[in-house]
Amino acid sequence: MCGIVGYIGKREIKSQLIEGLRELEYRGYDSAGIAVMQEGHIQSFKAVGKLTNLDEKTKNFKTEGPGVGIGHTRWATHGKPTELNAHPHMGEYSYVVHNGIIENYREIKEMLEDLGVNFLSQTDTEVIVHLFEREMNRYSDLFVAFKATIDQLDGAYAVLLITQKAPDTIFFARKGSPMIIGRNSSNEVFFASSDAPLIGEAEEVAYMEDGTIGYATSGEIHAEPIALGFVPLSGDKLTAQKGGYRFFMEKEIYEQYQVVSDTMIGRVLDNDIVFDELDDTFLENISRIKICACGTSYHAALTSSYLFERQAKMPVNVEIASEFRYKEPLLTDDTLFIVISQSGETADTLEALRMAKDAGLRTLAICNVDNSSIVRLADATILTRAGIEKGVASTKAFATQVMVLWMLTLFFAKKQGTIAEYTMREELRYMSYVPKVLQKSLDVHEKCKRLSKRYLHGHGFFFIGRDIFFPLALEGALKLKEISYLHAEGYPAGEMKHGPIALADAELFTIALMPRTLLYDKTKSNVEELSARDSTILSISPEMFDLADDFILTHPHKHPMLEFFEMMVVEQLLAMEIAIRLGNDVDMPRNLAKSVTVE
Ligand code: F6R
Repeated sequence: MCGIVGYIGKREIKSQLIEGLRELEYRGYDSAGIAVMQEGHIQSFKAVGKLTNLDEKTKNFKTEGPGVGIGHTRWATHGKPTELNAHPHMGEYSYVVHNGIIENYREIKEMLEDLGVNFLSQTDTEVIVHLFEREMNRYSDLFVAFKATIDQLDGAYAVLLITQKAPDTIFFARKGSPMIIGRNSSNEVFFASSDAPLIGEAEEVAYMEDGTIGYATSGEIHAEPIALGFVPLSGDKLTAQKGGYRFFMEKEIYEQYQVVSDTMIGRVLDNDIVFDELDDTFLENISRIKICACGTSYHAALTSSYLFERQAKMPVNVEIASEFRYKEPLLTDDTLFIVISQSGETADTLEALRMAKDAGLRTLAICNVDNSSIVRLADATILTRAGIEKGVASTKAFATQVMVLWMLTLFFAKKQGTIAEYTMREELRYMSYVPKVLQKSLDVHEKCKRLSKRYLHGHGFFFIGRDIFFPLALEGALKLKEISYLHAEGYPAGEMKHGPIALADAELFTIALMPRTLLYDKTKSNVEELSARDSTILSISPEMFDLADDFILTHPHKHPMLEFFEMMVVEQLLAMEIAIRLGNDVDMPRNLAKSVTVE
């Protein structure tokens, strides 16, 4: 997730901006940049990798006296993490930084190219600055030109723009991506994507509403159409980084609806799925798929195997990377080899990918970190766009992986000609509901909190489900054991009778995933068998189940994937609340450290 800062004032502007960006490091980034304007003259610096690289580049640059500046840390979504793609992006007189995704950037870019504009980067952001300069030629009032620019953007954005034509001003706009403005009694003005850079600097801040657009100088802040409601700022930086949540894990569960829409933006259209990352020949001569991954990413892979076979009619085989790499696998060149990894650095997954490459297979990475080892090695990559995941237990990365895989299923199904037009439209319609479903699923948080006090002991947990709810059961069990240190297993519901049911008694907790849209009666009869042996049952279902000791009622949905996403959130919240009640630090469970590289 990118980070944005802005400053208007008399202090040394470069340090002010870079220190602000440092407070946003927790959001993850692969490149960074600043632009500083004094007396109508703008200087800009960018660097790939850590902020120390930007420090190094700017070590001989210092400002004295008043000025304005904007800065940005970038997490690549469109285009590689290079200096050219890093923000700020420049036009002839102006510079812009932007968080979010401009959905209609292709159309705007084409239109501007037809007018002779040259683009330097592969980003969606660059269109903003060129569009603004075109509007500047039409409107003499720069704010009117800025409004005309923002009016033409679809998607999500937090934008800061400076121009030599208004030497003491920052223009700002916000829709869908957070932006905060702060001020103090020294007439300094600050902008940032979260509170952290503003703490200790601004005395009061306003959390901009969606649709806010305005400009600021050291003497004036103007915003439309809703006035800014300034409130005093207090708190510490770590709490601010957690966005007010108790743990990063909680914050990440709560932001899933947002990151999943980022995953979809520009890719899920009304009648189609578009992956610019895959060219038309990508599936040529491919008749099967093999997917390799570890842990949570493996569970996403397993989920997709049901979807690929059902919709795209392609045989799929899923393997745990640490098993695959030592088994002397038989690989045939009609196989598309997919690896899934949040970090892009997991050694077993990387080695599996290397083996597939050596065998001459076509390879595709589904990954969250651009420029990671896995991304660099794979033939093609689809980025999941989850932003950095700070909590050790993977949550939003899983949600975005599953979303990419569902989209890929439909993309392949269309290429294979295995999906009717009507079915495609219906799938896309249901897919577009996912962000809302993820948001609504949070309604059961209080219920999970209350239930957590009953599920702390016993001799273990069985998470059970059928079909795609089996990998989700595996994922629920993994989440719980990882942060609560309680024993938990995921099982296919129909498999319990083949041995594991012998463990059933009142001290065995069964978490039953009972979606209404998929094999409900079958799962129900498996749960009845467990109940007959006195297992304590917690059912997660839109249906009341009279044999359950406890239940979490989910919303009724018409598509299994919507039930899937909702139950995923329930499992995450439940695991987190049980772990918190046990006094555990859910962001840093024992013996675990996340292998994330942010370069
Ligand atoms: C579980 C978790 C791990 C990772 C696994 C693979 O919450 O985070 O199981 O999913 O270590 O990591 P990546 O996806 O980075 O390859």
